[in-house]
Amino acid sequence: MASERPAVVSIQDLAKHVGTEVVLQGWLYNKRSSGKLHFLEVRDGSGITQCVMAKADVGEDVFVAADGLQQEASLRVSGKVVAHPKREGVYELQATGFELVAAPSEAYPITKKEHGPDFLMDHRHLWLRSKRQHAIMRVRHTIVTAIREFFDDRGFTLIDAPIFTPSACEGTSTLFETDYHGQPAYLTQSGQLYMEAAAAAFGKAYCFGPTFRAEKSKTRRHLAEFWMVEPEVAFTDLEGVMDLAEDFICHIVGRVLERRRPELAELERDVAALEKIQKPFPRVTYTDAVNLVAEERAKLEAASEAPRLEWGNDFGAEDETLLAKRFDRPVMVHRWPEEVKAFYMKRDPADPRLALGVDVIAPEGYGEVIGGGQREESLEVLDAAIQKHGLPMDAFEWYRDIRKYGGFPHGGFGLGLERMVSWMCGLGHVRETIPFPRMLNRLSP
Ligand code: 4AD
Ligand code: MG
Repeated sequence: MASERPAVVSIQDLAKHVGTEVVLQGWLYNKRSSGKLHFLEVRDGSGITQCVMAKADVGEDVFVAADGLQQEASLRVSGKVVAHPKREGVYELQATGFELVAAPSEAYPITKKEHGPDFLMDHRHLWLRSKRQHAIMRVRHTIVTAIREFFDDRGFTLIDAPIFTPSACEGTSTLFETDYHGQPAYLTQSGQLYMEAAAAAFGKAYCFGPTFRAEKSKTRRHLAEFWMVEPEVAFTDLEGVMDLAEDFICHIVGRVLERRRPELAELERDVAALEKIQKPFPRVTYTDAVNLVAEERAKLEAASEAPRLEWGNDFGAEDETLLAKRFDRPVMVHRWPEEVKAFYMKRDPADPRLALGVDVIAPEGYGEVIGGGQREESLEVLDAAIQKHGLPMDAFEWYRDIRKYGGFPHGGFGLGLERMVSWMCGLGHVRETIPFPRMLNRLSP
């Protein structure tokens, strides 16, 4: 007869095993003791739970051995699952024994005391084990799932864009150059140009992958390597792009609220602010936005160090924050001076100084989360723009073909995953939104 060995279960499934004997496999997160009881906090990746070990239940030897356990010791704990006496929906283990899998060879470097961001970033591979980082990564995971779900449910085809590219998409100042068998190549800044080709082949396409910007500035919002999702749609215009962006953001926020309440609570995120994210989002022209920023700036008590926003300039982080103060949901700023936007943007037929671009600026000061717009479809106008931006025409031959063979109105956008995670989690810095951040001064771990 098979022996009745208790089942190994995940902490997230404890509710299903109340009253039975189980085994948890994980790491010691924290330990408190009071005379005849140890309170072992164990994490297994799916969650954290308390294992209450009474000397009376396990005997003197086991009790003393447990007393010597260090933080991050890996172990198997057996015991009976019980509902927490006071906290509803919380379960714990009445431990009956444990097996040490491996004791740490050194004291764990991340302790209860406050550590500076550089120290934590140097220990990112360990820091990911902490409750807060765990919560952030779970929110990120849910956002990624929501993104795929949204496009898949709307008839988009996933078309992966290459990472090595022969040319710039978003301006030459932020290109990472690399050697491609003796020929210069660049890490992709955006998959957009490839998605335009994909839109002609599939009607609605999207790519979702890592993109690279050699940003020389150290800000709270910029990474050198970040993930971008880029939908592109045939036979749409700027309005259609804005409608899609609005539905898309509402879908993501809805999913995060539906599936990640415990994580948002762990992060102390104000969920009321997220619950306000409903259609319609305000749509403001760039020109009106410049005036709103000036009004907000005039209300500031202390004069700001940042240069005043003049018509014709791109928004700085502070301008975005000032504009966002006016709204409790994302604001869509459209029709930008063509000078500040990329070569591929379509000019506004009503005013050639303007490009049919849109930036979606998140509320609460989280900044631009989406950039996109309608693309130039005329080969003649596109050629002039490529020349004006000093880009090498030969590298764009294939891109020009998209206009040569059945040009069509089209548009799309890019959403920066890490900016979205920052906003959903309420984080002050984008460095915690990606498992292993790459920034101006950081290439490791
Ligand atoms: O506004 P961007 O530069 O637009 C494009 O790359 C277009 N080609 C996208 C398209 O239309 N298909 O970047 C899009 C978004 C930004 O709104 C921001 O959320 C994010 O990508 N982003 C960054 N995120 C983190 N670090 C950086 N250095 C980022 N640069 C852009
Ligand atoms: Mg942008």
